[in-house]
Amino acid sequence: MEEKIIIPENQGNATVLAEQLGHSRKLYLESYGCQMNFSDSEIVASILSESGFGTTKNSEEADVILLNTCSIREKAEQTVRNRLNAFRKQKKENPSLVVGVLGCMAERMKKTLLDEEKLVDLVVGPDAYRDLPNLISEVDSGQKAVNVLLSREETYADVNPVRLGSNGITAFISIMRGCDNMCSFCVVPFTRGRERSRNPLSIVAEAKELFNSGYREVTLLGQNVDSYRWNLNKKGEVEDENQPTVNFAQLMEMVAKVDSKLRIRFSTSHPKDMTNDVLHVMAKYSNICEYIHLPVQSGNSEVLEKMNRGYTRDWYLERIEAIKTILPNAAISTDIICGFCSETEDQHNDTLSLMKMIKYDFAYHFFYSERPKTLAERKYEDDIPVDVKKRRLREVTEIQRAHSLMHNQKYIGKVQEILIEGPSRKSDAQFCGRNSQNAMVVFDRGETKPGDYISVLIEDCTAATLFGSIVEN
Ligand code: 5AD
Ligand code: SF4
Repeated sequence: MEEKIIIPENQGNATVLAEQLGHSRKLYLESYGCQMNFSDSEIVASILSESGFGTTKNSEEADVILLNTCSIREKAEQTVRNRLNAFRKQKKENPSLVVGVLGCMAERMKKTLLDEEKLVDLVVGPDAYRDLPNLISEVDSGQKAVNVLLSREETYADVNPVRLGSNGITAFISIMRGCDNMCSFCVVPFTRGRERSRNPLSIVAEAKELFNSGYREVTLLGQNVDSYRWNLNKKGEVEDENQPTVNFAQLMEMVAKVDSKLRIRFSTSHPKDMTNDVLHVMAKYSNICEYIHLPVQSGNSEVLEKMNRGYTRDWYLERIEAIKTILPNAAISTDIICGFCSETEDQHNDTLSLMKMIKYDFAYHFFYSERPKTLAERKYEDDIPVDVKKRRLREVTEIQRAHSLMHNQKYIGKVQEILIEGPSRKSDAQFCGRNSQNAMVVFDRGETKPGDYISVLIEDCTAATLFGSIVEN
């Protein structure tokens, strides 16, 4: 292979080596699945740029193709396999092309991915990205390379992400990694390992740097942000008396104080862990957006128990009440799984009735997909026929569409503060941006520019988008 690394005698310093590895080679990165994966890809790009790789948006001119993958549902894995097929011809024409699978699917399948997908050279789990330069040089020397070691410490706190496909205004900041919750349907604890929180000072430093480079919104990311803890053990006891302790409410306050013009969002909250302290901090700072994504998964307590979610329907409704009391203008969204193992019609109807009570602003809904190794796969039968799962999903979708439209209609005639993110998808003459509640607004751009906070009078809407005009710049 032409880019094989030769260690020059007496010149074996890491920088020289690193630059030789990537020298004149282009990296093409594609991300699938959750926001965390997109954020991880920015870490991967950073690690490889240190080794001299440039990035490209065109897969055809790439020397290294990496897919950062998702395992959450079977369909997500199928999408990646189909995508790999698309690179087969390129690999045949250019055998030195390196094709790698990163992320959850790499972690779940490990070496078997190499056996099943012959064109893959590289399999790297979410905690092994620092090893990518070494692994690529192994591939360069003609071997296949795998590193799927999970870590209890790795948070990539010191890695300065390369913002990929960025609009220059909104960015993700990972505040923790992994998940210890073991929801019975979920593969994430197996693919992303044990939960660990990132040093709060490095989080605040990243937020400051983003603000100073013109960014105006950060989304703090974790599988369960409410269990963020620094220098606190799981019982909430202090680990080191000489160090400060920080929980999620306090972390949010620290980031909110970076600048009042920096908006804060966060995802994902967990109903069993979300405290009133978090809600009070949201109420105290106008730059923390009034939007909470609080996945319910099911509206029936028996199903929730089988899902190992750690709360009941009543507990969840109480948390919603707390949001509505402390943050009366907050928008709430959720995740719902239809057709979990042995879910009855009555249990499904409990989900529909809960939706009608809460009237979510937005919901992501899925039908249950059995995942290898999960508690549900080991303990329960995936016994709801696909057509029943799909019909239940349709019922959830219809209710949600009506609720989303209802929420958007309530904005008509009102003025909303919008942070401009960039051109709208349909027309260059229009900009788009979101209000605090995360509703997307499209309007004629006038003299404004991305990053501006502007007031928009809402005049029309669909279930997905608000339309309006600028009333004040
Ligand atoms: N099948 C269907 N949906 C799932 N989710 C997680 N695991 C599964 C699964 N096995 C959904 C949950 C979670 C969201 C990210 O994906 O609703 O909140
Ligand atoms: Fe999966 Fe539950 Fe962890 Fe979310 S909280 S990542 S659903 S195990």
